[in-house]
Amino acid sequence: MSITIDDLVNRIRSHRCYSHPIFEHWAAQPPKPAAVGALFHQIRNFCDATRPGGKFPEALAMHQLSAESALLQEIVESEENHAPELATMAGYIVNRAAGREVFDDLYDQESVEAGLKKFSDELLAGLPGYDPRTGLLAQTRRARAAFDGRQQVDRESTIRNLGTALALEMISNRQLIPGEKAALVDAGTYDADLTDAEMHYLLEHWGEIGAEQQHEKNAIAAVGSVLNDETEALIVEGVDIFLDSLAALWDVLDAALLASGRPAEELITA
Ligand SMILES: [Fe+2]
Ligand SMILES: [Fe+2]
Repeated sequence: MSITIDDLVNRIRSHRCYSHPIFEHWAAQPPKPAAVGALFHQIRNFCDATRPGGKFPEALAMHQLSAESALLQEIVESEENHAPELATMAGYIVNRAAGREVFDDLYDQESVEAGLKKFSDELLAGLPGYDPRTGLLAQTRRARAAFDGRQQVDRESTIRNLGTALALEMISNRQLIPGEKAALVDAGTYDADLTDAEMHYLLEHWGEIGAEQQHEKNAIAAVGSVLNDETEALIVEGVDIFLDSLAALWDVLDAALLASGRPAEELITA
C-alpha cells in the first residue's frame, strides 16, 4: 500500500526544514547590515537555482505525463523576472539596515548582487568549503545541486524531480516567503511595507493570491497523480534531497549570521 499525497504533504510538514527558526531569529534579533547582505547573497543564489525548468517539463511530456508537464511549465513561467526583483528587495533592506545608501541604484541588479557577494566574502569566506569565486557556501552549493536533476530526462530523474518540486513549493509558500515577510516587514526593523515598490518581490510571492500558493497547488496536483507504489520511493527521495540540503543551509546561516551565532555568554544566559 503506497503512501497517499496527504501522507507525503504531512511528511514534508513535519520535516525540520519546514519549521526552521532562521527567519524567527532574523526577526527577533536583527543582524548587522553586512550580515543582511551575506544572508541575501546565499538565499538569492539558492533561489536562482530553483527557478529554471531545465529539461524537466519536456521530460514529463516525454514520459506521457503531459498534464503534469503543463502544471510544472506554469510554475516555471511565473518565475520569470524574479531574480532582478529579489536583488532590488535585498539591496533595499541592506540600505534600511545600514541607515544609508549602501546601494544607490537598487535596480542595477548586477551591482547589487556584486555588493551582496562582497558582504558574504567579508563574513563567511573563512568557513570550510567557501568558494571565493561565487561566494557560495558548501551548503548553498549542495542545496542548489538538488535542481541539477532538471537537466536529466530519464524517467527516474524525472520522477525524483517531482518530489523535489513539491518540497520546494511547499517550503517556499509556507516557510521561506512567510519567513521573509515576518523578518523583513512584520518585525518593523526595516520600516518596509509590502506596498513599497522595492518590496514587489515579496508582495508577488506572499499570501492567498501570491505566486507560491498557486505553485504549491500545481505541485500537489502533479505529484498526486503520479504517486503510486512504483514511484513512491523516487518521489520521497526527491523530497528528502531538497529538505535535508536546505535545512543544512538554514543551519549554517543561522549559526554564522543569526541568533544561534550570538556570543556564547548571551546564549548561556538566554
Ligand atoms: Fe519566484
Ligand atoms: Fe514557487
